[in-house]
Amino acid sequence: MDPCNPKSFQCWLLQFLTLLGLLILCLWLTLLPKSPTYTIVYLYAPPFTVAPPQNNTTNNNDIQFRVEIDNPNDKSGIQYGDTNLTIYYYDGYVGSATLPSFYQGNGKTYVWVGVVSVVGGGNSRFRAARNGSAELRVMVAAAMRHRVMGVKGRWKRVELGGFVGVGLDGRMSGKNRKVKLKSVKNNYRAHYGIDLIG
Ligand SMILES: *[C@@H]1O[C@H](CO)[C@@H](O)[C@H](O)[C@H]1NC(C)=O
Ligand SMILES: *[C@@H]1O[C@H](CO)[C@@H](O)[C@H](O)[C@H]1NC(C)=O
Ligand SMILES: *[C@@H]1O[C@H](CO)[C@@H](O)[C@H](O)[C@H]1NC(C)=O
Ligand SMILES: *[C@@H]1O[C@H](CO)[C@@H](O)[C@H](O)[C@H]1NC(C)=O
Repeated sequence: MDPCNPKSFQCWLLQFLTLLGLLILCLWLTLLPKSPTYTIVYLYAPPFTVAPPQNNTTNNNDIQFRVEIDNPNDKSGIQYGDTNLTIYYYDGYVGSATLPSFYQGNGKTYVWVGVVSVVGGGNSRFRAARNGSAELRVMVAAAMRHRVMGVKGRWKRVELGGFVGVGLDGRMSGKNRKVKLKSVKNNYRAHYGIDLIG
């Protein structure tokens, strides 16, 4: 017997369920909200001119930055917890900045203009490098959740990073001078091409 006799109810049900399944899959894929993207569009790390800064001197080594935070979803808003931007040089911590919790509507771009305070001039390797060009590792971490038609999703953690070349003048080097952050969590050793000690 033909397993799918078009006149049989089973056959009709099977086709109906298959179509329904495909429809749900399509809807789910369309509505599935994407994570925000982060692009560093400006970064300025003033070069050290004379001696390394003292604790009590006015700190003019602070790093200024501008990051575009883009919600790529047409149908989903994003609620953010605190967002941390942390700068490293090799494995050394240089400084960080925090953007307080905020809500971002569908398809909106938020421009975060901030300053990373470099206490004591950062780690020694960073200080040494500021006499020339340097490549900084910029990491962004945030807790976020989507909101689709009033329905809140689960909180999840976004952690992205990128390498920003800074020239002798302290400004971003490179052709297009924009760095879109990617998943670089543990790849920095390979990126710098060295084995890090301490
Ligand atoms: C500078 O800061 C370090 C640690 O932050 C501290 O141990 C030291 O006493 C400070 N020096 C001065 C002169 O304030
Ligand atoms: C910084 O500290 C030095 C001694 O450690 C002191 O002579 C100087 O007055 C201090 N400067 C300021 C701006 O506090
Ligand atoms: C910067 O680098 C040049 C050449 O390598 C060196 O002569 C100079 O002493 C360095 N200056 C500082 C402040 O480290
Ligand atoms: C941001 O930094 C603060 C202080 O270091 C920390 O408590 C918090 O967990 C960080 N947030 C994220 C999302 O990593």
